[in-house]
Amino acid sequence: MLVVQQLSHTFLSGTEPTQVLSGIDFRVEKGEMVALLGSSGSGKSTLLNLMAGLMKPTEGSILIAGRNIEKMNENDLAVFRRSHIGFIFQSYELIPHLTVRENVELPLVFQGVKGKVRRERAISLLSRVGLAGKTELFPSQLSGGQQQRVSIARSLITEPAVVFADEPTGNLDTKTEEEIIDLLIELNMGHGITFVIVTHEHEVARRTKRIIQLRDGRLVDPDIQAGEGA
Ligand SMILES: Nc1ncnc2c1ncn2[C@@H]1O[C@H](COP(=O)(O)OP(=O)(O)OP(=O)(O)O)[C@@H](O)[C@H]1O
Ligand SMILES: [Mg+2]
Repeated sequence: MLVVQQLSHTFLSGTEPTQVLSGIDFRVEKGEMVALLGSSGSGKSTLLNLMAGLMKPTEGSILIAGRNIEKMNENDLAVFRRSHIGFIFQSYELIPHLTVRENVELPLVFQGVKGKVRRERAISLLSRVGLAGKTELFPSQLSGGQQQRVSIARSLITEPAVVFADEPTGNLDTKTEEEIIDLLIELNMGHGITFVIVTHEHEVARRTKRIIQLRDGRLVDPDIQAGEGA
């Protein structure tokens, strides 16, 4: 489903090149929920952005649904990303002047899906994430946890092969964090949605079935991880 092979990344911005990731290898099967754990600066967001096709790696390959995304040109990648990849941001990234429902519909607008179909799918997803009564409000009228639910619904509307989330609970209090993780787990177990979730909190990672750990841009050996009780 998702295969990362010999992935390395060096940033060339700044005074000297910085190698942020080296020799990353792993795969995620359809229906898995994986936590990507590591301390600040270990390369989690960089890895996630590479896997989501938001930037190109300096070396290595990323296969999603059998396609090498690092080989695609900008146009093909944009089209592929819209239909195969969902993304959940720490800061929700909702559009303030669109209603909750319109925000969720947006990826389908880009796909040219008709209004009525978009509307029905958005409303159904919003009720699945617990926001049935909030569809016509604006993002500013919702709590942080509710805004993140909107962004989760938006990430799912195109039925992507995989959803990436970069610290999706980073702006939320502990109780709301738990509710959002509950929701992601329910979407994973109940609907088979594949998730890769970046976190630096062991509490969040502990609740997923599988943890991939980064340290200084390298994957920590799973056996060592187990030994550490991660
Ligand atoms: N555009 C960039 N140009 C140069 N260096 C960068 C760039 N983006 C990230 N880095 C460097 O890459 C390293 C890893 O950054 P990254 O954002 O992937 O870490 P992270 O694990 O997500 O950290 P955090 O938990 O704080 O979000 C850092 O040393 C950072 O300074
Ligand atoms: Mg980060």
